Amino acid sequence: MLFGYFDDENREYVITRPDTPLPWINYLGCQAYFGIISNTAGGYSFYRDARLRRLTRYRYNNVPHDFGGRYIYLRDDESGEFWSPSWQPTRHDLEDYACRHGMGYTIIGSRYSGIAAHTNYFVPLDENLEIWQLSITNQRSKRASLSVFSSIEFCLWDAQDDATNFQRNFSIGQVEIEDGVIYHKTEYRERRDHFAYFACSGKVEAFDTQREAFVGAYRSWDKPVALERAGLANSVAHGWAPIGAHQVKAELAPGETRQIIFVLGYHENPRDQKFDPPDSQTLNKKTVKPVIAKYLDSAHAGAAFERLHQYWDGLLGICQVETPDVHTNRMVNIWNAYQCMATFNMSRSASFYESGIGRGLGFRDSNQDLLGFVHMVPARARERILDLAATQLPTGGAYHQYQPLTKRGNNEVGSNFNDDPHWLILGVAAYLKETADRSILDEPVPYDNEPGSEQPLYEHLRRSFQYTLDRLGPHGLPLIGRADWNDCLNLNCFSDTPGQSFQTTTNKDGKVAESVFIAGLFVLAGKELAAIARERGRNDEAEGYLAEVAKMEDTVRKYGWDGDWFLRAYDDFGRKVGSKECGEGKIFIETQGFCVLAGIGLDDGMAAKSMESVRKHLATEHGIILQQPAYSKYYLELGEISSYPPGYKENAGIFCHNNPWVMIAETRLGNGDRAHDYYTRINPSAREGISEAHRCEPYVYAQMIAGPDAPTHGEAKNSWLTGTAAWNYYAITQWILGIRTSYERLQISPVIPKSWRGFKATRTFRGVTYHITVEQEGEGNHVSLKVDGMPIKGDTVPPPADGRKEVSVKGTLT
Ligand code: GLC
Ligand code: GLC
Repeated sequence: MLFGYFDDENREYVITRPDTPLPWINYLGCQAYFGIISNTAGGYSFYRDARLRRLTRYRYNNVPHDFGGRYIYLRDDESGEFWSPSWQPTRHDLEDYACRHGMGYTIIGSRYSGIAAHTNYFVPLDENLEIWQLSITNQRSKRASLSVFSSIEFCLWDAQDDATNFQRNFSIGQVEIEDGVIYHKTEYRERRDHFAYFACSGKVEAFDTQREAFVGAYRSWDKPVALERAGLANSVAHGWAPIGAHQVKAELAPGETRQIIFVLGYHENPRDQKFDPPDSQTLNKKTVKPVIAKYLDSAHAGAAFERLHQYWDGLLGICQVETPDVHTNRMVNIWNAYQCMATFNMSRSASFYESGIGRGLGFRDSNQDLLGFVHMVPARARERILDLAATQLPTGGAYHQYQPLTKRGNNEVGSNFNDDPHWLILGVAAYLKETADRSILDEPVPYDNEPGSEQPLYEHLRRSFQYTLDRLGPHGLPLIGRADWNDCLNLNCFSDTPGQSFQTTTNKDGKVAESVFIAGLFVLAGKELAAIARERGRNDEAEGYLAEVAKMEDTVRKYGWDGDWFLRAYDDFGRKVGSKECGEGKIFIETQGFCVLAGIGLDDGMAAKSMESVRKHLATEHGIILQQPAYSKYYLELGEISSYPPGYKENAGIFCHNNPWVMIAETRLGNGDRAHDYYTRINPSAREGISEAHRCEPYVYAQMIAGPDAPTHGEAKNSWLTGTAAWNYYAITQWILGIRTSYERLQISPVIPKSWRGFKATRTFRGVTYHITVEQEGEGNHVSLKVDGMPIKGDTVPPPADGRKEVSVKGTLT
């Protein structure tokens, strides 16, 4: 069964029934103010940090699953009947329900009892607020007397504290109401200089700010007592749970349409101008009032929406493709790029599966996210790289996470994930290849944010590389530390205490357990670092890095190869992990994908063998599973991976993040058919037809799809915030379609399915737009290029010498 359809022209997914298998969400905002919104208007908002500046409250894992959000109610004041046009929270049977999730906005609407209503929710660019533009039409043949109610529940800022510290929080809530605008100012009287507000363009008949007055005791949002009364009670919250609710009357003639705008926002005042008058406790509203007035005006709101549209036109326009496969086109041109923006902004902090209170921005994750983002807003990628590098430690190691508000490393999680430092090299390499902005390498960046410790970014990269050389194990392979890319392969943890964190508990010194994965990563990062050194004219250094890379490749061949595939690791007893010799967990995906994409074994048959083994032992119709056979019991020496029931997550789930490594590996072997076939297996658009089984959104990748060992093989979980977004985007655009950035030029080196006659693409790169046509004329992957009609040598396109901004490139594959 389908729950909606793709409207590619408008770049929307249109959900046509509200009872999707799981909440299907979208993100509002892409700079500093953010919101999550589900297809029934559930969700919440925050400023910069989902934990520390939460504006509205949300109860995760609720019943129903998604309850609480940006709810609007309509009441027929004659009959007293009320409903919500977004279905939740009242869940009336609606006609013509549709939720259009688009680029930075969501429009939810329906018809009930002759009243059509839809709300466009979005965050204007460069503002810290969201707009709800509601439009109501009376389709009845007679007048309609309606009341419109808005509702949100304020969070007392720190979402973690808000959900736990009730003995304090029930006494601290404070609001002010002026001209119908509800200001939430809890803790403003002391150390905060920010507040939230909720305003409405209609004439506010009445309001409520105390939750109980609106909802009523022993009731919930589906049947608020306030909607059964004549109107809202003008309650002023003091303590308990502050909310914002407005009531506006709408008298509509037949056919008449009325628009009402609600604005929910965040505002900061200078510390010395918090109050007005200065010696009072009243909020200074001087600078916020003009902002509110501006966006309550429909002309400004409309212009802001138009600007948002143009912004996305620009971002998505940088890379557009036209292939014979609709699922490829739609993901590359719209949804995958869009998801890359979300992962860049959120890292793994706030989704329906990440509560926004647990995880800051991950060092490893954020660097990988750049692969799919850097072409869109390079300036923000640059800033992110410098922020990440500033949390690096003098050893070259890195804090595993940092909090976006403070930009400091997170001490609770700490360091010693021995793969972390190398991702910085890959992030910087991606940035340099996109922009050619070498100045970033000279930027002075501190270690651990310590003033005075600044060194050029380039030096940070050298230390990243050295970090592994300083930590080699008995076979000369990198020591694994707490974990490598696979957070759940915890070879030094040995945890037998319930509730201990597998990632941060270290019960062993860690001088034995080695990671073949980090070896592959080291090889790739080392090659990039050598190229970067050359860019700086440091050829000797480059030679040195390449010598270490060659040595590591040898070590992998010698101690990291199991006969038919790459080993995964050695455990603390020096025993193999991911080998034929193992009872369970004989073969892992990570080392197959990564070693081959790093170029190991391409010329001696190992790579081809490894890929055959993946196909034979790991590939399923729903994607490639992480390892086989699944661990059937808990292994003290392996850690969290064996804590999951078979088929889920890292224990033989389809961990989509590393599927693209295999796709890239297949392109390196010239197998376009296989690469694209693997791509299609996890492509959410291609899986739309099995939405009931897949269950997550058909427009974005999920972190995991249950593997064949699970009873629900094919069911996705944890959508949106996953490295899958960046890696798939990178794999399809740069390796399968082969439009690849390099230090010098744009390279065109496609490895596509044999059934394709070719494809077209436009790619703007360093200010020049390349109009690319590729035609397949033979069986191979050899490409011949014509640039503006003239044949050129090789597969890289020289930028136009005469400053032209448009270039046509024709590629022929033979
Ligand atoms: C999660 C983490 C990521 C890790 C992966 C595998 O997606 O965010 O850092 O690499 O799991 O364990
Ligand atoms: C769990 C998850 C893993 C994630 C980690 C983050 O171990 O299985 O995917 O990376 O938590 O802390």
